Amino acid sequence: MPSIIIDSIPLDVPEGTNVLEAARSIGITIPHFCWHPALGKAGACRACAVKMLEGPVKGIQMSCMLPAQDGMVVSTTDGEAVAMRRAVIEWLMINHPHDCPVCDEGGECQLQDFTIAGGHGIRRYDGLKRTHVKQYLGGYIEHEMNRCIQCYRCARFYQEYAGGTDFGVMGSSGGVYFGRQQDGPLQSPFSGNLADICPTGVFTDKTARFRARYWDYDMAPSICPVCSLGCNTVPMARYRELLKTTARRNDKVNGWFICDRGRFSNTAVNAPDRPRRALVDGKPVDMAAALDSLLERLSEFLALNGADSLAVVGSPRMSLEGNIMAARLREVVGAETLCYFGDVLHAERTLEAVSLLNAENSASQEDVRQADLIAILACDLQEEAPMMSLAVRQAWRNGARIFVVGSECRLDPTKLHLYETEDVTSLTDVPFTEARNPLVICGTRHTGLEAIRAVALPGVKFSFILDGPNSFGCALLAREQGAVSFSETLTGGRVKGIISLEADLPAGLPNEIRVLAAADWLPTQLMKRAEIALSVTSWVEMDGSYINNEGRAQRFKQVMRPGLPIKGETPELHPPRIHRHDPPGGDMLPSWRILSELLERLGDERSEEDRFGEKCKFLGSLDAEGGGIMSYERNRNQ
Ligand code: FES
Repeated sequence: MPSIIIDSIPLDVPEGTNVLEAARSIGITIPHFCWHPALGKAGACRACAVKMLEGPVKGIQMSCMLPAQDGMVVSTTDGEAVAMRRAVIEWLMINHPHDCPVCDEGGECQLQDFTIAGGHGIRRYDGLKRTHVKQYLGGYIEHEMNRCIQCYRCARFYQEYAGGTDFGVMGSSGGVYFGRQQDGPLQSPFSGNLADICPTGVFTDKTARFRARYWDYDMAPSICPVCSLGCNTVPMARYRELLKTTARRNDKVNGWFICDRGRFSNTAVNAPDRPRRALVDGKPVDMAAALDSLLERLSEFLALNGADSLAVVGSPRMSLEGNIMAARLREVVGAETLCYFGDVLHAERTLEAVSLLNAENSASQEDVRQADLIAILACDLQEEAPMMSLAVRQAWRNGARIFVVGSECRLDPTKLHLYETEDVTSLTDVPFTEARNPLVICGTRHTGLEAIRAVALPGVKFSFILDGPNSFGCALLAREQGAVSFSETLTGGRVKGIISLEADLPAGLPNEIRVLAAADWLPTQLMKRAEIALSVTSWVEMDGSYINNEGRAQRFKQVMRPGLPIKGETPELHPPRIHRHDPPGGDMLPSWRILSELLERLGDERSEEDRFGEKCKFLGSLDAEGGGIMSYERNRNQ
């Protein structure tokens, strides 16, 4: 561990740490553009100059290029270093557009921050600025090459980190250009990260362009609900409209990046046809009245048919809190049936996979990135969990061998090939014993129980790709509560009515089954059929928790208040002539709170906290920015 001194502060840093990172670790920010924790150094921008006062190297040095060594004494504030950094910023700004104070990247632009922090304000060069033609890069990313400072982060991310081949750096002499050979949509399923990684505004999120400044956004730490990996995000909203989503760093999970599917999935939240009012027999009512009606109908139903004819149906796309409360409702009304999965195969496979995982063998995305041998079976990673395929690529870049087992998951030739693979027919053909960190990734969508069990090999970590952001949580609850799949309840023929919560039930629900109530934020068929339709908040309009595919419980926070986006077409509300506390279209609650209020009406006197039960009390204090907690560890600590 090298011992160094930075600005008179002595510190020991791990071998291989560069001086820039060492300074960051004690809260000293050295300006930098090309260096990025996930991409490493490039030495391209020359903005990170420091003065080496003592040690093996002396004088002005680029701190990102210099590994910390014993005896180094570094000054970040030395006059020569400050003058060098100031000169670099001035050179970078020579060709930079002068709209900096009003540019749409303002507030989230590293170049703007370091320019202002360095005190550069007056342009001394009076020559012409070098300009470029910008390109059409598809519907997601806006290109503005004139803002480029040639840090190469975009090309390094797109080609090296993410394996893209249709974008890169071109040019000759002074004309360096980052783009495609011709206009056209970016092909990489990770292209949205260009907007996060560019330290200026060359690449911005086109879907949110000119809608808000950074400081205008409502934002909060959140979790992507699109697949089971639980990538960490920061959704950004304004005026009750979800405008964009950026990646949030979690070294164990997604690292610094997210996939395009998670990033550009705002539409459903803002959709005009989203349920925004409670309906009783198709007539709009307020939420309290809808819950009163539900209580009435539920009591009648139970009196007429008995509790064993009612099924309470939760869902892997609902928060853990909602699914816990679904179990409470089942308990309080004495219903015989509780379901968390629609389909019996989905339920069986998920429960089997979760039962095999424990703190020792469960693989995180970081474990995948660090593996030296990976066997993939029964899944199309780019389709089912894109970020997992990006993690596999990082392992492959570090020299890992990647085996594709069996014929179910042949790589789709139409997709980007992120890594080279070797084909084998069965797991027994994979040379696990030759590897130090072997790992198996297995899908659960198309594989049988035997194949899932076969993955649990001694000394091998494994990761199952599940369906839904909270499949793991639902599997834990299903085992604890003795829940069955919904398709099984249908074969028994006893169920005559259901209360469904954010559930995607199999098509063909028999007509004779009453949908007493459905709660959802998506306009599902079940919501249309329900006697009482309850509009609920989406994940960005509430606090909640999911457990991801590795067993990591993670909390997401409310980003925006529920309600109609101001931009939406609400002519009947304009101009507003009445005072109201709630925004229009905002009469909705999280599913768990709807259940909590229903339980209260049913006479359950436990406080909300008690209703979550002893095991899940920790959810309330789980820090959304704390990286999550493994559900195995929590159980062990109790
Ligand atoms: Fe060191 Fe760019 S950050 S040269």
